[in-house]
Amino acid sequence: MAKLKKAFFCQNCGAQASKWVGKCPSCNEWNTYVEEIIQKEETGSNRVSTTKSKPIAIDKIENKGEIRYRTPDNELNRVLGGGLVPGSLELFGGEPGIGKSTLLLQLALKWRGIKVLYISGEESEQQIKMRAERIGIENNQCYLLAETSIQSILQHLEQVEADVVVIDSIQTLHSSLIESAAGSISQIRECSGQLMRFAKETNTPVFLIGHINKEGSIAGPKVLEHMVDVVLQFEGDRNHMYRLLRSSKNRFGPTNEIGIYEMQGSGLREVVNPSEILISNRDEHLSGSAIAASLEGMRPMLIEIQSLVSSAAYGTPQRSATGFDLRRLNMLLAVLEKRCGFRLGVKDVFLNIAGGIRVEDPAIDLAVVSAILSSSEDIPIDSKSCFAAEVGLSGEIRPVNKIEQRILEGQKLGFERIFISKYNMKGLNSSDFSIQLIAVGKIEEVFNQLFG
Ligand code: TYD
Ligand code: MG
Repeated sequence: MAKLKKAFFCQNCGAQASKWVGKCPSCNEWNTYVEEIIQKEETGSNRVSTTKSKPIAIDKIENKGEIRYRTPDNELNRVLGGGLVPGSLELFGGEPGIGKSTLLLQLALKWRGIKVLYISGEESEQQIKMRAERIGIENNQCYLLAETSIQSILQHLEQVEADVVVIDSIQTLHSSLIESAAGSISQIRECSGQLMRFAKETNTPVFLIGHINKEGSIAGPKVLEHMVDVVLQFEGDRNHMYRLLRSSKNRFGPTNEIGIYEMQGSGLREVVNPSEILISNRDEHLSGSAIAASLEGMRPMLIEIQSLVSSAAYGTPQRSATGFDLRRLNMLLAVLEKRCGFRLGVKDVFLNIAGGIRVEDPAIDLAVVSAILSSSEDIPIDSKSCFAAEVGLSGEIRPVNKIEQRILEGQKLGFERIFISKYNMKGLNSSDFSIQLIAVGKIEEVFNQLFG
């Protein structure tokens, strides 16, 4: 007989308690506990799968080699670490309207010879069809289903025998075994648990689209992130065309690769050569702009840093950064002030990474500092220079990894000079490159080279 059970769940981290508590003991958030009625069957869904399992010695397990489906989307393959692993569960998160549904529907349509079942709890078949028409690819192996009940979804999955399944989104699914509303922690946990079991038992890869809350985590429950094999994040500024796909967890590959897309009128286009788009329309005569030779995963990419330094209009100077860590900006400003004597403490400083992308590579420090100095002095940096170095707390220019790749990318795109740390010169032979290497050790040297 089914047993009625109630419990309180933290809507932030998914912790469970038998009574209401004001402050969550596991994530320290206040007022996040909500009572949910969970009804569990005795023989049921929460049990481990019914297939017979037994322990096996590790040396008896034969390695069948790595099997991956290469998807028709090369950016996605890159982020996944080569392709989609059979039976894996991928969580695909992102803010509303960023293009999650578009990307996965496009994947389903582009994938020839693979039967993809796209299950939507957010849109009707008609609406999805309209989107497919906008994307403009036809594929009779792509199946649509508008459904939110996990029980009937599982039934359909058995009948359709799809090769790949997309769920849009996990927050809209509900299980009839649980009484709380769709999107609540216990529903999400139950439905993703069911889908995970389906994925592992049938070796079918399943994509789960997940909404992101305002703190940036996927609808609160870290539970979900622990459960899945891969967590992909689709990000970008909705007002810009460029979208970045990152993975923050990947059981089968690295997590430092990114995929870049451009949102167009007819779906998302893969951006194969990011440097060209990110710095294409520069005005050579403006101060405050510097080019950084950055690296995301294995892929070098030149990006434009823009800065504006002006006298503070009000008492407290403003500092604002888009696409760059504000704390790091403050640190670099403090270094400029304290170690190099630039009086920026009374100035407003704005920093922007062109294209609406976010960069975490410390090698863009030197370009950030140079852009700030250029704007502060109101002298443009010559358009044939680029930068690749980290800046340390004492104003020293520090070496960065994979310097050769960065130099070659700058060279390939027609730059004539690249500023790097003198500590990076070890093992580098400047006659190997047609681009001039300017090795610097202190910010003052950079300043003198640029504006001296
Ligand atoms: P969508 O995939 O619905 O976002 P999500 O599922 O992440 O909420 O994408 C919505 C946005 O993308 C919407 O603003 C319209 C835009 N869009 C295009 O610009 N071109 C297209 O071809 C499509 C299908 C959508
Ligand atoms: Mg959507």
